[in-house]
Amino acid sequence: MGEFVAMSVLTVLFWLGISGVEPLKNVQISVPAAVTINQDVPLTCLYDLDHGESLYTVKWYLEGEEFYRYIPKEIPPIQTFTTMGVDVDISKSDEHKVMLRSVRHEQTGVYKCEVSADAPEFETDVVSAQMTVVEFTTNTPLIELAKTRYEVGERIRANCSFGPTRPAANITWFINNLQVKDQYVNEFPVFEDGTRGNWVKSSLEMDTDANSFRGGRLKLKCIASVYSIYKRASEMQIEEEKPRSASVLGSKDSSSSSSSSSGNQVGLNTSGNSKSPGVSDTSFRSSSHTLKASVQLLHSVNILFFVLPFLLLQFPSPLLHTVGQRQLLSPPLQRSSR
Ligand SMILES: *[C@@H]1O[C@H](CO)[C@@H](O)[C@H](O)[C@H]1NC(C)=O
Ligand SMILES: *[C@@H]1O[C@H](CO)[C@@H](O)[C@H](O)[C@H]1NC(C)=O
Ligand SMILES: *[C@@H]1O[C@H](CO)[C@@H](O)[C@H](O)[C@H]1NC(C)=O
Repeated sequence: MGEFVAMSVLTVLFWLGISGVEPLKNVQISVPAAVTINQDVPLTCLYDLDHGESLYTVKWYLEGEEFYRYIPKEIPPIQTFTTMGVDVDISKSDEHKVMLRSVRHEQTGVYKCEVSADAPEFETDVVSAQMTVVEFTTNTPLIELAKTRYEVGERIRANCSFGPTRPAANITWFINNLQVKDQYVNEFPVFEDGTRGNWVKSSLEMDTDANSFRGGRLKLKCIASVYSIYKRASEMQIEEEKPRSASVLGSKDSSSSSSSSSGNQVGLNTSGNSKSPGVSDTSFRSSSHTLKASVQLLHSVNILFFVLPFLLLQFPSPLLHTVGQRQLLSPPLQRSSR
């Protein structure tokens, strides 16, 4: 349970005036700002009674409606009221503490503790704090991209949607693990899905530049969070598109898609392709029909792209031969021979 109790516990301090004798002092309420649904939640109300004073009542309210009353002189001292479905575990409650059992969405609201000292003055103090019961989903954020390959200078357009949660989640974008500034992000209006909660959608529009791609890739991440108690992330890779390959869209090549992707990390240097443009063009061509393909496929294509120049150095003749054939089949690539 402790894991989900909100980090930030609202503590409100109420200090009585400076009126000589104070029968009741230092009334404080401690209510978590956010909790997850179905959790048992302890609420506390602390106070000091002056020497010789005794307690008359402690009353708890949710949104102005009483749900718990403690009167030490009565037997039993505890009374509860069915207010907004509040379920109090009496065995764990007393004059300072109220244990809520399995909280529900309706129990989001302002909690108030009212303490009264006994006769003759019946001095009374009230303190209050807001608690939000968070409802969430096992869904993960959905990233939608206009396309998965971009040239340097092109504008990335992506949406991230998530739900249902209550309250609505916040969406944060990251590019290469750096948070994207607000100016590139737009929120769509929150969509309420009946009793299930709220859906949120955020769009990102940002121009890429020479620093956007690391080794030909850009990592796009969308994080949906509700306060500090709930967080879900989705991630996608965007590949850098070399301008040269833009003209060869449409020619499919199934033969080279996986034959040489050994998982080897050799040649993780994008500038390597300038030494053997024909080879890298070939690998781009083989993947040009995968604009909407899965991230996994993009990975393997990427490995191929890096491994081919290496193989070219190791085994020059067979590969050059293959490349030569492709160039013949594909006129726009002919200018790329060394
Ligand atoms: C993002 O969502 C908006 C509104 O639904 C839609 O018009 C746009 O095409 C979407 N963009 C992408 C990249 O999916
Ligand atoms: C969303 O972010 C704002 C600003 O950081 C914060 O005040 C608010 O509590 C957050 N809402 C949720 C549901 O996390
Ligand atoms: C990539 O290789 C080039 C020379 O081939 C070199 O100048 C450059 O520093 C390398 N870059 C990285 C990131 O290793």
